[in-house]
Amino acid sequence: MNKKEILDILQDNTNNEQLFKKADKIRHDNVGDDVHLRGLIEFSNICKRQCKYCGLRSLNKEVERYRIQKNEIIDYVHNAVNLGYKTIVLQSGEDDYYSVNRMIEIIKLIKEFDVALTLSIGEKTYDEYREYKKAGADRYLLRIETTDKDLYKEMHPYADIENRFRCLYDLKRLGYEVGTGCLVGLPNQTLESLADDILFFKELDADMVGIGPFISHEQTPLKDYPNGDFWLALKVMALTRINMPTINIPATTAMETLNPNGRIIALQSGANVVMPNVTGTEYRAKYEIYPGKICINDKPEKCRGCIENKIKSIGRDISNDYGFHKK
Ligand code: 5AD
Ligand code: FES
Repeated sequence: MNKKEILDILQDNTNNEQLFKKADKIRHDNVGDDVHLRGLIEFSNICKRQCKYCGLRSLNKEVERYRIQKNEIIDYVHNAVNLGYKTIVLQSGEDDYYSVNRMIEIIKLIKEFDVALTLSIGEKTYDEYREYKKAGADRYLLRIETTDKDLYKEMHPYADIENRFRCLYDLKRLGYEVGTGCLVGLPNQTLESLADDILFFKELDADMVGIGPFISHEQTPLKDYPNGDFWLALKVMALTRINMPTINIPATTAMETLNPNGRIIALQSGANVVMPNVTGTEYRAKYEIYPGKICINDKPEKCRGCIENKIKSIGRDISNDYGFHKK
C-alpha cells in the first residue's frame, strides 16, 4: 500500500471490521494459526533516558529501582523453559551497569538452554551489538516509537532520531531479526505520521513489529494527556500485517491494558505472537512503563496457563518451534 491508501483507511472508521478480517486472513494464510509465546524478563528498571511518556524515565524519583543479577535471571529462564517457552526476551531500561562483558556472560548462559534469545536493551554502538550477536543473541527489539522527527524530538529529550535509525540498520546488517514499532496516540501525533511509521517498518524490512497505544502515566510530563485509542492502535497493527504478511506481530500488553480482551482481539486482527511476563512477582509492579499493567501479581505459571486457555478458546494453538521470521 502507498501512503495515500494507508492514510485513507486510517481516516475512515466505517470499514474497520473488514480491515481486521482482512488482516486476520493474511495472518492465517502467511504465518498460520500457531501463536508464538515469548517469555519476557524485565531485568532492570534503571534507565538513563528521559522519554516523556515512560514511567521509568530517569527523572521519575518515585520508582523503586531494581537490578536482577545474573543468577536470578537464569532462574527465571530455567522456569520459563520448563513452562515450554522457546524464546526468552531480556528487557531493561538503558542501564549502563550491564556492561558488554556482563551482557555477554548472561547471553551465553541463556544460550545453554534450548531457546532463541531476544534483547530489548536500547540504543548501543555497532560494536556492542556485534558482541551480543557473537555471544548468541538472535533478535533485537527497538521501537522507533515515531518517525515524525519533530514529535520524536519533543518526546525524547537529549536523544537523536538519526541514532535510532542507525541502531536499527546496524542491527539488520549484523544479521539480527529486528523488531521495531511505534506508539499510537502520543500528544500531537498525526494520522499522517502513523502512515509514515507503517511505511518505515517496510523500508527497514523489519522482522517483527510491535504496536501499542500510548497510556498516560501520572509520574511523567504527559500525565494530563489522554490515553491513545485502542481501536486506532489495532488499525495500525492490522495495516502493518497487510503490508508485511510474513512478519511476527505481537498482541501487545498495552492493548490488553486498555481493553480487557485486547490481546485476543489483536490475535484476531493480524497478530501471531504474545509475550507473557516470566519475571518474578516481586518486580513486576516496579517495571511500570505505564499504569494498569496486567498480571502484576501473577506468577509465570499462572500467565502461561491463562494465555494458553485464551488462545485455545479461539481455536488457535501454541507453537512449539522457535518462531523465527519465515520469509
Ligand atoms: N504507554 C504505552 N507504551 C509505552 N512505552 C513506553 N512508555 C509507554 C506508555 N506510557 C513503550 C515504548 C517502549 C516499550 C518498551 O514500551 O514503545 O518501546
Ligand atoms: Fe527509559 Fe523509557 S525512559 S525505558
